[in-house]
Amino acid sequence: MTLVDYSLATMASHETPAGDGDNGPVSGVTPLLSSDVIAERVRELGAAITRDYEGRSLVLVSILKGSFIFAADLARAIALPVRIEFLGVRSYGQGTTSSGVVQITQDLNNPIEGEDVLLIEDIVDTGLTVAHLLDLLRTRLPRTLKVCALLHKPARLCTPVPIEYLGFTIEDHFVVGYGLDRAEAYRNLPYIGILE
Ligand code: IMP
Ligand code: MG
Repeated sequence: MTLVDYSLATMASHETPAGDGDNGPVSGVTPLLSSDVIAERVRELGAAITRDYEGRSLVLVSILKGSFIFAADLARAIALPVRIEFLGVRSYGQGTTSSGVVQITQDLNNPIEGEDVLLIEDIVDTGLTVAHLLDLLRTRLPRTLKVCALLHKPARLCTPVPIEYLGFTIEDHFVVGYGLDRAEAYRNLPYIGILE
């Protein structure tokens, strides 16, 4: 009985078009990618990764904090044995412009030598963070090292970085939600929106 009630409540809340539901208004945030659109793309990325790494196991390196929600959803869309590692970095301070300085706030807990490693990033903006992290992780001698980014803002790219798996290319807007923040706020929005 409890289970039935719970699932009905969940369905009802998904069907609520506005308010505190998926695309409900949050002051100063204009919805750009709905949670359904994101979920579909994450499924496609997971399927592509599953195909490409068939017969192997993967180490997903989730770049904190921005990629934690993307990594959690992507991991469940990959039908292979995976290990999850977290790498904490800070590149922005409190503002919305890149300082170009990448600070490691938390290193990997386990070696990645000889592993197939996929770096999971929320957004590639100037490219400085991913370029720096690729250099760092290469010194740990993974078997392969590739990048999966949910978003890419090519307008601001300074350092070209290879993105093997990309969710969406977006215009030069500052976006929040689905893990992305502005001064630590908005990470829990289930969709991605443009911050005014
Ligand atoms: P990059 O080093 O300039 O490529 O910046 C990458 C990091 O900056 C990302 O991992 C994000 O944490 C942050 N970032 C870049 N653009 C945005 C944005 O539009 N919204 C939120 N965070 C962003
Ligand atoms: Mg950030």
